[in-house]
Amino acid sequence: MSATQFESKQVPGGEALRLQQIRKTYGAADAGGVVALQDITLSVAAGEFLTVIGPSGCGKSTFLQIVAGLMPATSGRIEVGTREVNGPPEGLVYLFQQYTKSLLPWRRVIDNVAFAVEHRGDLSPRERRRYCEHYLELVGLADAAQRFPRELSGGMQQRVAIARALAAQPRVLLLDEPFSSVDALTRLELHRLMLRLWEQQRFTAVLVTHDVDEAVFLSDRIAVLSARPSTIGEVVETGLPRPRDRIITPEQPRFLELRHYLLERLLSGAAHEH
Ligand SMILES: Nc1ncnc2c1ncn2[C@@H]1O[C@H](COP(=O)(O)OP(=O)(O)OP(=O)(O)O)[C@@H](O)[C@H]1O
Ligand SMILES: [Mg+2]
Repeated sequence: MSATQFESKQVPGGEALRLQQIRKTYGAADAGGVVALQDITLSVAAGEFLTVIGPSGCGKSTFLQIVAGLMPATSGRIEVGTREVNGPPEGLVYLFQQYTKSLLPWRRVIDNVAFAVEHRGDLSPRERRRYCEHYLELVGLADAAQRFPRELSGGMQQRVAIARALAAQPRVLLLDEPFSSVDALTRLELHRLMLRLWEQQRFTAVLVTHDVDEAVFLSDRIAVLSARPSTIGEVVETGLPRPRDRIITPEQPRFLELRHYLLERLLSGAAHEH
């Protein structure tokens, strides 16, 4: 198989998500249980980049884990494409905040990426290796293939995790603050990388974060979660042109306006009123 066969036209593209009246209570509601999510209704278009922002502890990870089928909702319905979610759906990949949770420390970098394609009978061992090398090239880590995760910086490890997530050819990529555990400059580089890969592959991306700048820079739309019991206060369309530039885009009036508005909403807790 030639390298060109791994190009973006081969990937399956995004699937739409529909969440209807999702509610999550931890513990018994009548015995001091915590209502983490209350009545979340949200649709995400195929190939859209949607971000959910909200204060710490408002239920962002809970939300994402329910979408991923890793945890059941107390009530409500989730559909990926036309299928109802009752467990981890095929084509959906979850990228964790901590790369240490994502990577297997005893495996070399290339073998960590290979983890995503081990089940694929359509690739010979040689093709599998070439395929994984392709994804390492995409994240700029071709030279690190034979190293172990502990021999890499935090940002490089997160890039390995991104390569592995994309090697699985997700139709939906769920991102739980995957850029928050690296330094500020690396974070900007990872934003740039993520947008480039998303523009090539057009999976549906759902990111949760408390970082307003990150949300505005990356997204098509931003859903604002209130403090607990969380509901979606509003959904804002960013309307910023693409491709976005890590330096120029944040200087645009629309970026600054959105940033101001969303920070005010989060700091005042105004989203709670809706
Ligand atoms: N397994 C659990 N059992 C009981 N309560 C839980 C559990 N997991 C989360 N919670 C509670 O549910 C609420 C939402 O937690 P969650 O981790 O989803 O918030 P978050 O928005 O992701 O927070 P952070 O921004 O700090 O990552 C919190 O009050 C938390 O204490
Ligand atoms: Mg969280």
